[in-house]
Amino acid sequence: MTISEEIKRRRTFAIIAHPDAGKTTLTEKLLLFGGAIQTAGAVKSNKIRKSTTSDFMEIEKQRGISVSTSVMAFDYKNYKVNILDTPGHEDFAEDTYRTLSAVDSVIMVIDCVKGVEPQTRKLLEVCRMRNTPVIVFINKLDREGQNPFDLLDEIEKELNIKVRPMTWPIGIGKSFKGVYDLSKKALNLFQGDSKTTVEEKVTINNIDDPLIEKRVGADFAEQLKADVDLIDGVYDTLDPEKYLQGKISPVFFGSAVNNFGIHELLDCFVEIAPSPGPRETDHGTVKPEDAKFSGFVFKIHANLDPKHRDRIAFLRICSAKFERNKYYYNVRDKKQLRFSNPTAFMAQQKSVIDEAYPGDVVGLYDAGNFKIGDSLTEGADLQFKGIPSFSPELFRYVTNLDPMKTKQLQKGLEQLTDEGVAQLFTKKVDGRKIIGTVGALQFEVIQHRLKSEYNASASFDQIDLYKALWVSCEDKKKLDTFLQDRHAHIAQDKEGRPVFLAESAWLLQMAREKFPDIQFHVKSEF
Ligand code: G4P
Repeated sequence: MTISEEIKRRRTFAIIAHPDAGKTTLTEKLLLFGGAIQTAGAVKSNKIRKSTTSDFMEIEKQRGISVSTSVMAFDYKNYKVNILDTPGHEDFAEDTYRTLSAVDSVIMVIDCVKGVEPQTRKLLEVCRMRNTPVIVFINKLDREGQNPFDLLDEIEKELNIKVRPMTWPIGIGKSFKGVYDLSKKALNLFQGDSKTTVEEKVTINNIDDPLIEKRVGADFAEQLKADVDLIDGVYDTLDPEKYLQGKISPVFFGSAVNNFGIHELLDCFVEIAPSPGPRETDHGTVKPEDAKFSGFVFKIHANLDPKHRDRIAFLRICSAKFERNKYYYNVRDKKQLRFSNPTAFMAQQKSVIDEAYPGDVVGLYDAGNFKIGDSLTEGADLQFKGIPSFSPELFRYVTNLDPMKTKQLQKGLEQLTDEGVAQLFTKKVDGRKIIGTVGALQFEVIQHRLKSEYNASASFDQIDLYKALWVSCEDKKKLDTFLQDRHAHIAQDKEGRPVFLAESAWLLQMAREKFPDIQFHVKSEF
């Protein structure tokens, strides 16, 4: 196969959903249908539930699971499908944002009973920022959910996207009979009343075919005809170009746990979802078919064995072929690195690979060379865009509780923040370290891991901060004046960039008014 054929057959995506909508179940069913696993129950949910936030064993267990489910690849028809897992817990939202920078499209799962939920909204905002194409799967049709038209309305209004149904449910909840495939004009019916996993496909000539009534009864046939008329009148047909631009989302109905509606989803997905496309860097656009290799690290996972401090860095390949044992260039620290055991993930199996292509994700064993967002190239000095850190929401001072272990603490904080667990700021005036996170759970994770992996102990002390914002100004003198004036409220991030620590919204407003030329950024990339 040529490299361009390899690129064209790749589909790299993430499933996003509010917790409990059915992401894990759908992932598993896709793997089953793709022949990558043989039994249901093989994919463990990596959910960390609120109630278990203090349960460290639980966190460790979840970490173990999420290493093995970080990437799940399988072949389906002639396609190579790469599913990138995103954490369900909202405290790990930043992980999810970063993972979404490494995909080419997403499937969004919505529970038909609950409709659009808070996490759905947040995740879709990220997709819209990047114009990521979205396919919607409305799940749990075996439950008494909302009216499908109301659901579509809610999705369009709340998420501010246009939708186009591709399948349509016949009945819902107890009366759910199956779905009508609007493009293939086929009925896919549950067999019998048991809503078991067996499906039956009935091809019909058109929506007036008497066979429909024979199979689902007069009432449902009439309702379906009325619904289909309405759909054709209200929704535009699917323009694949618009889908690729993120302007319209095809919608499928089904029930993941019952294997229902998954085939239609998967078949349409591989057909219309984008193969790896061009990506922006600070030195122009990189195309997958470019001659030289490039990629970026979007996730780092620490080894679970505390005695071995090596980590796995997950690299998304953006251009050309990645090869084992070849020297590549880490742009940030200008180091040449060689990987003798790059790992690929086929479903639940990890294996050492000799080569990988754009769209693929490889796991690289790392002894501490990588940071999230690092670019790896064949020598080009380029930095991929779109993998920013976000202004954290919660802050704590770090106080060393064991002066004999200062080095360990330092190293632990460096490494954990390299992994993207949290952000580390150092105050200018007194050198005090501040940890910033997006969720409270991270503090527990850090404290626990500092102790168990680095044998360091630290306390996290309350600090009243409203926001930490990166600052910049075209005029360096003006920036210096600002940094001088507010020196008690200035810190540095790990890269040495200046950050303004605002104690309240009012103080931030004051700073903005007094220094109108200074720009305050909520993202580290500006
Ligand atoms: P998540 O990863 O998005 O958080 O959701 P997950 O797949 O874990 O699904 C959440 C719950 O919803 C699970 O039940 C799962 O079995 C159920 N579920 C998934 N798809 C369907 C569906 O089509 N219909 C119905 N009725 N339920 C569905 P649970 O009780 O939390 O776990 P389990 O013990 O069943 O695994």
